[in-house]
Amino acid sequence: MRLEDRNALVTGAGSGIGQAMAELFAKEGANVAINDIEADRLAETARLVEAEGRKALPLPFDVTDFAAVRDATAHAIEELGHIDVLCANAGIAPTVDFVDMSEDAWDRMIKVHLYGAFYCCKAVVDHMIERGHGRIIITASMSAINGDIHLTHYSAAKAGQVGMARALARELCGTGVTVNVIAPGLTKTNILGEVDDEVIQKYAPPIGRIGQPYDQAYAALYLASEEGSFVTGHTLQVNGGAF
Ligand SMILES: NC(=O)c1ccc[n+]([C@@H]2O[C@H](COP(=O)([O-])OP(=O)(O)OC[C@H]3O[C@@H](n4cnc5c(N)ncnc54)[C@H](O)[C@@H]3O)[C@@H](O)[C@H]2O)c1
Repeated sequence: MRLEDRNALVTGAGSGIGQAMAELFAKEGANVAINDIEADRLAETARLVEAEGRKALPLPFDVTDFAAVRDATAHAIEELGHIDVLCANAGIAPTVDFVDMSEDAWDRMIKVHLYGAFYCCKAVVDHMIERGHGRIIITASMSAINGDIHLTHYSAAKAGQVGMARALARELCGTGVTVNVIAPGLTKTNILGEVDDEVIQKYAPPIGRIGQPYDQAYAALYLASEEGSFVTGHTLQVNGGAF
């Protein structure tokens, strides 16, 4: 098992990619602190983690609230003993034309993704440096690289995550802490909202299918594992060839 005796903290773990990460990490031996802003979503994720014989620690909080992030992370460290892997994964993606975009919509998007990832990194990084080991994995998006129509705020926030991760990775080289990004392409989760399957298939990547949460979770597993220990500052594009 790749994550035997490891503990992970996954944000946005109540659904989609975060839930798949939590389940896969548990299959590979990790206990998982699972966060979501929607507290009721965490019961199913906890069930999946516990079904693998691992401990699940539900932590409902909003990643845009630094005090909440800090306190919950400290609680997770106390309960589990240590945190080896942080997946800063929580996200939203409401689409809006740039001309109609309110300042509030812009702020919320930047807050959830860029501040959220920053707060989560801040909350664990001292602990990881002290232990001489840590894996930080941020779920950005292909939008960071390509820019997506009706998602200027999202694309900007995700590009910010990529820049932050690269800089932090370089700053932390030699500490035992790696920092990497996953850039998913179209992946079938709740974030796609009410868009029906026919429309989604129209945008299917060249590989011939849209992504599934486990496609992203396996990428995170690689970066979290010993096998990924020489990789830092990287953005892994998990996109079925949709560059
Ligand atoms: N699905 C895709 O096609 C796709 C593509 C590129 C990137 N992503 C990114 O993947 C990540 C996971 O998204 P997903 O596709 O699994 O979507 P999802 O909607 O299934 O899961 C996202 C989870 O994040 C939670 N969340 C939202 N705001 C939060 C906050 N402020 N604090 C804590 N939790 C919060 C939601 O409640 C939800 O459970 C996101 O960062 C998203 O931007 C997804």
